[in-house]
Amino acid sequence: MLSQSAAAALPTPDPDAQAHSARLVARLREALAEQDGFLPFARYMELVLYAPGLGYYSAGMQKFGAAGDFITAPELTPLFGRCLARQCAEVLGALDGGMILELGAGSGALAADVLVELETLDCLPAEYRILEVSADLRARQQRLLRERAPHLAARVRWLDALPDTPWRGVVLGNEVLDALPVERFCLRDGAVFQQGVAWRDNQFHWKEIPAPGALRQTVTALQNDLPEPWPDGYCGEWCPTLAPLIRSLAGQLSAGLLLFVDYGAPRSAVYHPARAQGTLLCHYRQRAHDNPFLYPGLQDITAWVDFTAIAEAGVTAGLDVLGYATQAHFLLGCGLDALLADAAGELTPARLTQLQQAKRLTLPDEMGETFKAIALGRGLDLQPRGFAVQDLSHTL
Ligand SMILES: C[S@@+](CC[C@H](N)C(=O)[O-])C[C@H]1O[C@@H](n2cnc3c(N)ncnc32)[C@H](O)[C@@H]1O
Repeated sequence: MLSQSAAAALPTPDPDAQAHSARLVARLREALAEQDGFLPFARYMELVLYAPGLGYYSAGMQKFGAAGDFITAPELTPLFGRCLARQCAEVLGALDGGMILELGAGSGALAADVLVELETLDCLPAEYRILEVSADLRARQQRLLRERAPHLAARVRWLDALPDTPWRGVVLGNEVLDALPVERFCLRDGAVFQQGVAWRDNQFHWKEIPAPGALRQTVTALQNDLPEPWPDGYCGEWCPTLAPLIRSLAGQLSAGLLLFVDYGAPRSAVYHPARAQGTLLCHYRQRAHDNPFLYPGLQDITAWVDFTAIAEAGVTAGLDVLGYATQAHFLLGCGLDALLADAAGELTPARLTQLQQAKRLTLPDEMGETFKAIALGRGLDLQPRGFAVQDLSHTL
């Protein structure tokens, strides 16, 4: 839980933001009333992040970048998108063309960087498709692409649903899977409990009920898959939509690559007994804490991604696991060092900034090790270049 000192250190939202949050609280309390005073955490997280017009990603908050709540790799530097573009170019080359489908495109920065780099490499996709759940972000992406790459904007198409006819190409997702709603569970005296949300004393609180059968079975299967037992009182998260999403993305992909970059780890590390309070993390104005009930609708909520679950879902859908590596090693495999060397020259302020950004992408205590990349493929006879420096697939 958020300590007093951490809570005190968080900035207070302005009156408009507080009024917005109050409207979402009213919506959440309606949902609670419809469900006899207990909202499973996944439903709470879905509403606080994605309730139309009210949720964190659905309403017009700043969110990304230095003035927002957190910085993602594409917001930090175009180097990230340029590296991903090089991985896309390899696959599009092997397929003799194809599409790119980006899931959850945020501000649109990654789409712009990837397209501009692919143009330089003379390897533009036939179409760059974006599937985005937030109407506000979709509009923001359209604006950014018109500004940053006006001559390429016509190649971008926003989808309302996943393709329902066969297609070839690359699926990209950066920090999307960690934004999917998760269930919370706890072990008490050998029994599994579901954690959810209740309203008391004018605020939201954790509430536990005996886990429904399906969640109990999932948690038991997870535990049986781990090398060490959980201690009593262990709490964790499980994402119910992760595997179905991977299977749907794989569904109509006749040949190509699914590439996800996110923070997380193999199952044995995500659910390690030492991580006994789970991995839930909230971001508000560049500060991280663990209280998901603070400022509903004004802060981001995430949980670590179980990369073993991604691999399993891919294999179930007939895909091959083509690589798994830390973000640092993946970017080096894509040629980050060569991009930096190409730009070498006088130490100008712009060059220093670029070097600083590359360090943030790759250093172990920044994004380099906490973030991982995974590639799943179908009909591809290659080892993706991003995993040539390191491939930790055997740890999944
Ligand atoms: C943390 S942001 C990351 C944005 C961007 N990829 C980046 O790296 O800056 C998560 C994004 O995923 C979107 N999103 C969440 N769930 C989604 C889903 N099921 N399908 C498509 N987009 C989704 C959010 O609206 C948001 O754009």
